[in-house]
Amino acid sequence: MTRMNTRYLLEMYQRRLCHCILLSRKFLIGFVFGIVSTLLLSKLLVSPCHPQPSVEQDVLPSHQIPLLTSKVSEVKKKRDRILCWVITSPQTHSRAQLIKQTWGKRCDKLLFMSSIKDNTLPEAIPLPVDDTYANLWGKTQEALKYLYHHHLDDADWFYKADDDTYAVMENMRHLLSHFNASMPLHLGFKYQHPKVQQGFTSGGSGYILTKVAIRRFVETALARSRNSRGKLATNSQCVLDHQGPEDLNLGICLEELNVTAVDSRDERKVERFLPWSLEDMICGHLKNPGFWYLREFSYYPLKQDMKCCSPHAVAFHYVKDYQLKVYEYLIYGLRLYDQGR
Ligand SMILES: *[C@@H]1O[C@H](CO)[C@@H](O)[C@H](O)[C@H]1NC(C)=O
Ligand SMILES: *[C@@H]1O[C@H](CO)[C@@H](O)[C@H](O)[C@H]1NC(C)=O
Repeated sequence: MTRMNTRYLLEMYQRRLCHCILLSRKFLIGFVFGIVSTLLLSKLLVSPCHPQPSVEQDVLPSHQIPLLTSKVSEVKKKRDRILCWVITSPQTHSRAQLIKQTWGKRCDKLLFMSSIKDNTLPEAIPLPVDDTYANLWGKTQEALKYLYHHHLDDADWFYKADDDTYAVMENMRHLLSHFNASMPLHLGFKYQHPKVQQGFTSGGSGYILTKVAIRRFVETALARSRNSRGKLATNSQCVLDHQGPEDLNLGICLEELNVTAVDSRDERKVERFLPWSLEDMICGHLKNPGFWYLREFSYYPLKQDMKCCSPHAVAFHYVKDYQLKVYEYLIYGLRLYDQGR
């Protein structure tokens, strides 16, 4: 029963990955699935999905991560560097150009993980992978390997985004200023899943890894996988073939590598990483049956309507090409007369 449900969850999850925003007929099917699964799964999920931090847990629970005190961060002279690596493909290099012109220019270093070289986009890295959705997990592994070999010393934090993500780098910087970049951490919007106690970070709004997190992934997980048939250990759930949902798979591996998934919400416990479009987050993700996945599997309780999203939001997902410029204007261009901005 549990195994069946886990598989079912994975399948439903993959549907979400395929950007299946359910419409018309699909919407109806989604609706029925949503109702049935909500009924079926609510029992199963309540217990494993709101885990109490157990004593023998190796990974440090989020609330125990030592925050840098304001004093320490004031003293910190060195400004942390953020490398942004955006997953893209040859078909969407035009979108990559838009990212480069908008939020991407505020990263200390910007790379586009693609599969070909492009003279008009020198930041594009030709990774040796097939550019298919099914292969996304393989592409992420190649990207991490590439970062490890070529850029590990170029940054303190490594932010992974999709090419339909918009990130607010100033707010990311502020969030990160509370954490110690020398620790094994990752940050982002957390989903829950029976296979990963601390939750896993959504790939859509992106996740941030520290150097030591990448080092562990490459030096331990990828290295070991070569002599243990794609697995971290005999009883490991960290599977390193190329298929399956990328962010869940990475989350499972990171937990086994003792990399802590940090609570990235703001001081009012509101999400800073928005895994669905801003419109969807604001206008009804809690009512719309199409968003049952978000509702059911969000690691933390979600807030409604205008309260959905932190005023210090760090990232938005499902941002259309033209919206990259619209967000840019609304965040950096628009001025209010009476606030002297
Ligand atoms: C950050 O973490 C490293 C490694 O755990 C530790 O050596 C260092 O003292 C920490 N720095 C601060 C400012 O807390
Ligand atoms: C994680 O931490 C535990 C306990 O500290 C340790 O036994 C285990 O080897 C660590 N795993 C990895 C992959 O470093």
